Amino acid sequence: MKEKVLFVCNNCGNQTTKWEGRCVNCQSWNSYEEQTIRKETTKAEKKHWKEGPTIKKSAQPIAEIQYSKSPRLEVPDKELQRTLGGGIVPGSITLIGGDPGIGKSTLLLQLAVNSPYKILYISGEESAQQIKMRAERIGIKNHDCLILTETNLNTIFESIKKEKPELVIIDSIQTISSSLVDSFPGSVTQVRECTAELQIFAKESQIPVFLIGHINKEGHIAGPKILEHIVDTVLQFEGDRNHIYRILRTKKNRFGSTDELGIYAMETTGLREIANPSELLLSQSDESLSGSVIAVTIEGMRPMLIETQALVSQAIYGTPQRSSTGFDLRRLSMLLAVLEKRAGLFFGQNDVFLNIAGGMKVHDTSIDLAIVVALISSLNNIPIDKDCCFAGEIGLTGEIRAVNRIEQRIEEAAKLGFKKIYISKYNLKGLKLKNNNIEIFPLAKVDELIPVLFA
Ligand code: TYD
Ligand code: MG
Repeated sequence: MKEKVLFVCNNCGNQTTKWEGRCVNCQSWNSYEEQTIRKETTKAEKKHWKEGPTIKKSAQPIAEIQYSKSPRLEVPDKELQRTLGGGIVPGSITLIGGDPGIGKSTLLLQLAVNSPYKILYISGEESAQQIKMRAERIGIKNHDCLILTETNLNTIFESIKKEKPELVIIDSIQTISSSLVDSFPGSVTQVRECTAELQIFAKESQIPVFLIGHINKEGHIAGPKILEHIVDTVLQFEGDRNHIYRILRTKKNRFGSTDELGIYAMETTGLREIANPSELLLSQSDESLSGSVIAVTIEGMRPMLIETQALVSQAIYGTPQRSSTGFDLRRLSMLLAVLEKRAGLFFGQNDVFLNIAGGMKVHDTSIDLAIVVALISSLNNIPIDKDCCFAGEIGLTGEIRAVNRIEQRIEEAAKLGFKKIYISKYNLKGLKLKNNNIEIFPLAKVDELIPVLFA
């Protein structure tokens, strides 16, 4: 058998034939690792997971391509079902990434013990007893769920061949190793090789596979970026560990839209699906307080009303502080600069703190308007009425820009009992509403906010 020596960057997966002190691709220092790769796999190794007929590999006209419409596997978890684009596609491979402790194992164990399928849950991280204890906490509905604690990929394939499960879950890809490459588990080469082998396995056997992947400190799924290219679907599990909310975002999906997302609350009995996020993200107090403003955002396809809180206070120490949780700090600086230049409001002598309620990370720029209002409200110490909400993006010239799906946003706000919504006047064109219990205030520029709200 031929052997080949390669050097692989542990950070980005770049390969070279000679060792380099610094990666030519990602510029990281001392990241090359020597790897011996067997050029050919043995026939036995190649064959051992194959089932069914081999696929014909010649080109054929698209009209003649036949496929059997195998239905997607329905999952009882509505949030996951939607995030996947409507169930699990046979033969697909899904990667779930997220920070340690965020709840990836919980999410998939919950899927394993609640679904009416034969599921093989493979863990390379926890013992069978630990898994059972956690499963009991979640509540076991499917007593046929199989647990295997194993890290060797060949043994995993043996077990799959024996048990013939309908779904395979692997927790986590970083703990699995293949004997085809001699590199330690979790290294770029191992992770990539195992994923590639699992991909071939899934495609040939039509058994879907879920993989859990850890995230490195830059927030990417550890291992080379190509891991995300190999798999069919990439889901990202995120949230603040100090809060109970968790969001499952689709980063890539070959079988559905990437606009979907699932929302959960982490509780003592596992993850609970959240069907109506707005009710949880609004603050519980009935009083109107300065600096607290409601934004109507859309995450994925779902409208969500979120409370934004700003605190503007006199800076005591030399340089004023800027701090933000759940919102991009650079965008906050931009909004402050816009207020200074276009509305004549000065924050140069003040500390500014910004917080998005519930530990949410908001990507939708329509939250800008609510943040600007919260900043002015806190600066002047004037509260905003509890029945007002806001949706608009702020541009550099101080203009309030139109946002997408305005009807959906207005209807959600009306449904939750809000009486007034402030939007961009450019959103008025062609606006058709079913619900007219809510008053709409169109605005064109940030300086208009002051006479309208703070007069
Ligand atoms: P886990 O699924 O182990 O995270 P990951 O696999 O992403 O590393 O989740 C760990 C956290 O979830 C842990 O800190 C405890 C918490 N948790 C609950 O709050 N309730 C529960 O029912 C379970 C199972 C976990
Ligand atoms: Mg885990």
